Amino acid sequence: MNSNGYSAWLEIDLEVIRQNVRELMRISQTEVMAVVKANGYGHGAAAVARAAVEAGATWLGVARLEEAIDLRRSGMHCHILVMGYTSPERVTDVINNNICLTIYDRQMGEAYARQAEKLGGILRLHIKVDTGMGRLGISPDTAHEFIEALSRRPKLSIEGIFTHFACADEPIQPTTARQLSMFEDLVRGLREHGVAPRYIHSANSAAIINFPAAHFDLVRPGIALYGFPPSADTPLPAGIHSGLVWKTRLTSVRTFPEGHGISYGHVYHTSNEERIGSIAIGYADGYRRVPGNIALVRGKRVPVVGRVCMDQCMLQLDSVPDAEIGDEVVLLGRQGDEHINAEELAERWGTFNYEVICGLSARLPRIYLNK
Ligand SMILES: Cc1ncc(COP(=O)(O)O)c(C=O)c1O
Repeated sequence: MNSNGYSAWLEIDLEVIRQNVRELMRISQTEVMAVVKANGYGHGAAAVARAAVEAGATWLGVARLEEAIDLRRSGMHCHILVMGYTSPERVTDVINNNICLTIYDRQMGEAYARQAEKLGGILRLHIKVDTGMGRLGISPDTAHEFIEALSRRPKLSIEGIFTHFACADEPIQPTTARQLSMFEDLVRGLREHGVAPRYIHSANSAAIINFPAAHFDLVRPGIALYGFPPSADTPLPAGIHSGLVWKTRLTSVRTFPEGHGISYGHVYHTSNEERIGSIAIGYADGYRRVPGNIALVRGKRVPVVGRVCMDQCMLQLDSVPDAEIGDEVVLLGRQGDEHINAEELAERWGTFNYEVICGLSARLPRIYLNK
């Protein structure tokens, strides 16, 4: 029995994260912004950020200011970009924490400039251009004028310009090539007018893999950093792996007579005498309340039976007669010769791998290997 004493936890090998960062740097030949939003895609933002920076990442990317401030509090001193919305009311916190914001709207730009002028500090910015994602971003037709106007404001420092791809994980789609060419035209036009921010960036994991022309001088990997493929059409290069294993324990093993109802709603009844185990995982941990789940016990695949509860669910253990209370059970990752990956879980849950890992609940302790 593992001696950590937890009933459910995540094991994350930080050397695997470092290796992935090194591989992404080798492939892109550029600086890397490790995207650690959403608690480092469920892996724990602070630990992943530290490992990524140790391996050579020079930037961290997050969605929200709160995530950026948490990283500063955990001792990260590198560049941090907030890629989502930040209220102009928070400019003091932004400047005091030396964080870089994304700007994509004229009125917000004006509000940021006024706040920074009032406070007397320099506000670091990356401009987001919408070349086709249909989400945040200034339109390329007006970007030129927008950027020139911002450059005239004394307290704004424009360090970067970037865009985001909608379909980079579907390499045969023409959308990415169109977005890329629009972005290149804009960057060229700006340079001709003497506007040349230090960082030009566009590539998420899929674009790093599928579109070398999108690498520019900074890439923004998220899912590949954690060792998961962006999509079925975009497999990972060799050398990038997941270091995540989701574990729990058998908390009870009982033999029920034929015809016994199991868990809420009795949607499962034993068809013979059956050995039924409980594990300490439920939908509050990010496990889904759907039929057809599978877990690994003693290196074998066993079915989850009955409804998944908030903190527990039940396994059919007839194929593992030696299983006993305290045994480790794996829900995601390897056990012996068997393996359940995030893509398999995602398929069962009717979603994709990103949602599986980002949904790993905060209450699961994260145990880091190779710290
Ligand atoms: C602006 C931006 N850049 C980069 C990423 C990283 O994307 P991925 O996890 O697909 O590499 C994201 C994630 O959604 C993002 O929103």
